[in-house]
Amino acid sequence: MTFTPRVFSGIKPSGDLHLGNYLGAIRRFVPLQDTHETIYCVVDMHAITVWQEPEDLKRWTYEIAAAYIAAGVDPKRSIIFNQSQVMEHAELSWIFNCVARMGWMERMTQFKDKSGENSENVSLGLFAYPSLMAADILLYKATGVPVGEDQKQHLELTRDIAKKFNHDFKKQIKALGHKGDFFPITETLATGPAMRVKSLKDGSKKMSKSDASDLSTIYMMDDADTISKKIKRATTDADALPSEVAGLAARLEAENLVGIYAALSNTSAEDVLGQFGGQGWGVFKPALADLAVARLSPIADEMKRLVADRGEMDSILRDGADRARAIAQPIMADIRNIVGFVR
Ligand code: TYM
Repeated sequence: MTFTPRVFSGIKPSGDLHLGNYLGAIRRFVPLQDTHETIYCVVDMHAITVWQEPEDLKRWTYEIAAAYIAAGVDPKRSIIFNQSQVMEHAELSWIFNCVARMGWMERMTQFKDKSGENSENVSLGLFAYPSLMAADILLYKATGVPVGEDQKQHLELTRDIAKKFNHDFKKQIKALGHKGDFFPITETLATGPAMRVKSLKDGSKKMSKSDASDLSTIYMMDDADTISKKIKRATTDADALPSEVAGLAARLEAENLVGIYAALSNTSAEDVLGQFGGQGWGVFKPALADLAVARLSPIADEMKRLVADRGEMDSILRDGADRARAIAQPIMADIRNIVGFVR
């Protein structure tokens, strides 16, 4: 069975978008439009696995959809929608809850990190989270998923679920006239610089929506002065930049800032060190601040313009959901049939 080259990715509306979301995901959504069918989702059902104020959930949903468009995702070429408008996601995730094994889910490091000491008191949805994520992807038989490094384990689980489904229902899949596998073994697209952007204050932690220190995270809606200030105050060591990538080993903060520069300038860490090797932070940080402002400010301006027009955003999301459903429904019909549900 050959599968259409199709990309699916999603972002949770659970906080303000930050530079990690942009470099690890959104920025890479854009060129994939030239080579794949592309589906970009705002995963609002994932967001409510932890408490969300309903008004914030709405605001962040619009903000993420706006960020996709502002960064260069074309809502005509790509499908942009929010997950809860296509109920097949929930339906398939239930089936996957019955395919995935407890042991697989218990090994998920993000669940362990998020539940921490409090694992008895987190929602059941948080535990089942990766099964809904597998449903997002496989509902469209997506062959590639652009994400940051922190999502790699969830995508391994997606492959495990696909393999088990393909295996358990082999007979029914064949009877339906399918040659080979029903679900593709989805590829994780997570290469290049800045696949794990770190906190600007602590190079051992990833940049995240929920950092206590405001100086750790560059938000997509930060203004130019705030972006510059955060970069100039980023924690670093005292040494000059090395000329070779090997010289960044064990220099987590330096490696992070060089990676950010490389990603924002569409080059590599080698190229950045070729240009700045031997220079001190007094030269590199202002250059990085200027680059970040030049790249991010136009996106923030466009995001603000788009979110102000809720009517337009609603119609983009509704149109995207209609097009997503048109792909999902025949696949879901096959799945019901394969599983043995009578209709
Ligand atoms: P979320 O909302 O936490 O993050 C959205 C995307 O941003 C990437 N990312 C980062 N990349 C680099 N450095 C960072 N510091 C950083 N922080 C976040 C994430 O890797 C992700 O690509 N479970 C997913 C949402 C999801 C999804 C899906 C993704 C639900 N269904 C299906 C892909 C396909 C999540 O929580 O992402």
